[in-house]
Amino acid sequence: MKIGFIGAGSIGLALAKQFSNAGHDIVLSNSRGPESLADPVRSTGGKTRAGTRAEAARADMLVLSVPWQHLGSATAGLPVLDGRIVIDTMNPVEMPGFRLAELGGRTSSQVVADHVPGARVVKIANTLPPPLLAADPRTNGGRRVLFMSGDDAQAKTEVARLFESLGFAVVDLGGLATGGAMQQFPGGPLPALNLVKQG
Ligand SMILES: NC(=O)c1ccc[n+]([C@@H]2O[C@H](COP(=O)([O-])OP(=O)(O)OC[C@H]3O[C@@H](n4cnc5c(N)ncnc54)[C@H](OP(=O)(O)O)[C@@H]3O)[C@@H](O)[C@H]2O)c1
Repeated sequence: MKIGFIGAGSIGLALAKQFSNAGHDIVLSNSRGPESLADPVRSTGGKTRAGTRAEAARADMLVLSVPWQHLGSATAGLPVLDGRIVIDTMNPVEMPGFRLAELGGRTSSQVVADHVPGARVVKIANTLPPPLLAADPRTNGGRRVLFMSGDDAQAKTEVARLFESLGFAVVDLGGLATGGAMQQFPGGPLPALNLVKQG
């Protein structure tokens, strides 16, 4: 599969390396342009290349992993995403002080969905720090748990299959409203919970 990234920071690269190690094609993009991504491309390895945001958005799946305040500029002017899966790793954090951004009573992934019309948004990989996401998910006799939510059942099946193929155990929490609230950082009960599913 070809997987595009908008955002090649600590979370984006942790996931990109996992996907690359599993043989997927990776397109990394950021705000400064492809020429700034030589080191991340090299360290991600495999079939990884740098591209524009638009090129990343034309991949089979798109990972959105930018700081919350850059959601608008990161998604502005993207090609039509009709039916495409967007993996949302983002947390609605305002600095300083890790304050919860104003979301109008919704969850952050519902807000993200408004920025990527036509896409099927799945929230996953937002509750663990980069070193744990980058580490071997087969650990302590089991598989590291990732929480997931989304409003499209088929999209969640595809995303769960992708992460399970890496060795993670994916726990489906339901839709973006209910599941997203449990995954929410700051405020939800699940961030920083590092669980290992046995068996
Ligand atoms: N760090 C954690 O522990 C953690 C854990 C779970 C979830 N998260 C969430 O995951 C997301 C990414 O966090 P991070 O720690 O990986 O951030 P980071 O290391 O600061 O990296 C941010 C990336 O976003 C890119 N970016 C910023 N504005 C952009 C734009 N307008 N268009 C395209 N790319 C843009 C940056 O590119 P440039 O450098 O070129 O601007 C950079 O590659 C955040 O929403 C965060 O809340 C973080």
